[in-house]
Amino acid sequence: MNIALGVGGGIAAYKAAELARLLEERGFVVQVLMTEAAQQFVRPLTFAALTGRKVITDLFASAGGEETLSSAVEHIRVAQDNQMLIVAPATADLLARFAHGLASDFLTTLYLAFTGTVVLAPAMNTNMWRHPATQANLETLRRRGHHIVEPEEGHLACGMTGPGRLAQPERIAAIASAAAVQLRDLEGERIVVTAGPTEEPIDPVRFISNRSSGKMGYSLAQAAAARGADVVLVSGPVTLPDPYGVTVLRVRTASDMRQAVMEHLKDASIIVKAAAVADYHVANVASRKLKKTAMRLSLELDPTVDILAEVGQKKGDRLLIGFAAETENLVAEARRKMETKNCDMVVGNLVGTDGTGFEADQNEVTLVVRTGDVIKLPRATKLEVANWIFDHALKLRLALHAAQ
Ligand code: CTP
Repeated sequence: MNIALGVGGGIAAYKAAELARLLEERGFVVQVLMTEAAQQFVRPLTFAALTGRKVITDLFASAGGEETLSSAVEHIRVAQDNQMLIVAPATADLLARFAHGLASDFLTTLYLAFTGTVVLAPAMNTNMWRHPATQANLETLRRRGHHIVEPEEGHLACGMTGPGRLAQPERIAAIASAAAVQLRDLEGERIVVTAGPTEEPIDPVRFISNRSSGKMGYSLAQAAAARGADVVLVSGPVTLPDPYGVTVLRVRTASDMRQAVMEHLKDASIIVKAAAVADYHVANVASRKLKKTAMRLSLELDPTVDILAEVGQKKGDRLLIGFAAETENLVAEARRKMETKNCDMVVGNLVGTDGTGFEADQNEVTLVVRTGDVIKLPRATKLEVANWIFDHALKLRLALHAAQ
């Protein structure tokens, strides 16, 4: 689910960075917008680094030349792309402009064009908060059905003590999650996701592995959990933290991964195999550390079991999504893997290109689908790509049922 996070100009703007992080952790895709005043307190770069997306800073910032039209309608695009608008901190000035329908900058213009769920987290000086003008504006906004996250009492930056301090980011994130319940289209699904590389030992201290970071699989697990699914993430060795609300099973070798997947197959309705599983393991793993000699050393390798192909044989009416990381012939290879491994969809991505693939935060993939469709998705953060994959998976399941 996509959230537009509007950051207003107040000393609490820095707390919005923590909020952006918490929202991403809960599996939301966050597009940050900063008012001009907000940029006096925090730099857009902070948010860009946390969300992996460019921050929108002003309505006409890129006006001029060819970009005039696109930037002038950008607020409509943002309004359409996001299901929730959170404003934190919402200053007294922003509340007034929202209440009265002024469209004097990007955030207020977006607000007018926006039809989804609105969550406002005010923060201001105690007297400003208590002022009848502010209270009247809040009343108007409440009556519109917006969620108001009341500020907390405490010592304020202006020296006063009283209500006006921005609610804790955890509280705002919890309220956003509760409001998002209406959009839990994967509720009732049991999804197994695999992620990361596997490690195949050579001796007690050495192993063969690959450059998979696990980010795509973790984003898939995070996105599915945010949309209400029960998610088991079978993860090879990676350094990523456990995604929020996901059961994580950490494994090491292809054989461990196979066992964990097979144990959870019975209950699963969707299986997504994003892991970069080793195709070979060392035939005779040394029980002691191999010592260096001047001679050439050969390792004998045996093939591992292809987990995806095995699941493909046993899948029944479960939806099976495989991955194909290729350096060439992407669509043909993805299609071949779909057929030979009996998948319903293969997510193909070119590796070795700039800024996408294994270690990158962004990805650019093509979906090859059992119905014959080939869908090229635009380059986006791995969390966005994960959400699109589930959107298409749900559509595909409907199409497969309709064809039966
Ligand atoms: N896969 C698997 N078990 C294996 C190897 C691969 O489950 N032992 C799965 C991966 O998780 C991925 C898909 O198969 O979803 C494709 O993996 P990839 O390495 O691209 O393909 P391979 O089948 O190994 O084919 P090739 O080496 O010909 O590219």
